[in-house]
Amino acid sequence: MSIKQDTLYSTPIAAVSAFKFDQSVVDVFPDMIQRSVPGYQTIIETIGLLASRYAQDNSVCYDLGCSLGAATISMRHQIQAQDCTIVAVDNSTAMVQQLQQNLARDSASLPVEAVCADIREIQIKQASVVVLNFTLQFIPIADRYAFLQKIYQGLLPGGILVLSEKLSFEHPQQQQLQTELHHTFKKAQGYSDLEISQKRSALENVLLPETVACHQRRMTDVGFSSAEVWFQYFNFASMIALK
Ligand SMILES: C[S@@+](CC[C@H](N)C(=O)[O-])C[C@H]1O[C@@H](n2cnc3c(N)ncnc32)[C@H](O)[C@@H]1O
Repeated sequence: MSIKQDTLYSTPIAAVSAFKFDQSVVDVFPDMIQRSVPGYQTIIETIGLLASRYAQDNSVCYDLGCSLGAATISMRHQIQAQDCTIVAVDNSTAMVQQLQQNLARDSASLPVEAVCADIREIQIKQASVVVLNFTLQFIPIADRYAFLQKIYQGLLPGGILVLSEKLSFEHPQQQQLQTELHHTFKKAQGYSDLEISQKRSALENVLLPETVACHQRRMTDVGFSSAEVWFQYFNFASMIALK
């Protein structure tokens, strides 16, 4: 499948509306996320590697906010555990429809259940690996503790949560620097100043980043024995939390 270039914010928009994961985003999503999230491909490949290590026999791996299934497909190709399944969940109908097509074209045989639902509403059971790859940032902050508590409770002993997020920084100069570095990254990926600024407006109040310390505290507060950053590239990080 050829990847369609993201030009959604390339022409001036009179009033930029709040970002939504609708069909127009689905059509350009692989290009958008690759050119917007520094280190995205490394994180996707490493999620597969982590799943190959942590997926347990007779367990479920969850990909929550799975979009088009990049992390799901990476896990699906690397898991060796017996009687393991993947549950991939997203609340965007357009995403789940395209995910189902991607899964049908994929060569791996590990069973995947694609679910269109709000990840705050689903049950998590018998989990060995839970992936939240740039999804928690779209959940209202007030809901995050209870949601992570549910994930912790649904994980088996020895299970892991992989949490990747855009970060904020307490120190104002660091915040400014990391924001500028991210914009430099996006410009190097071919995005114009107009595209960067209009996308930023669209994500305002939709994508709510927090500091690494805040994420770590929440994960240990809900019960994880340890939560550490395993990858960071400017203001984007991926963490691993151990049950
Ligand atoms: C940045 S994308 C995630 C990228 C994806 N995990 C990957 O690795 O390619 C965020 C996704 O989370 C989904 N999402 C946001 N809030 C959600 C919710 N409450 N329930 C389910 N999915 C949600 C969006 O529809 C979107 O597809």
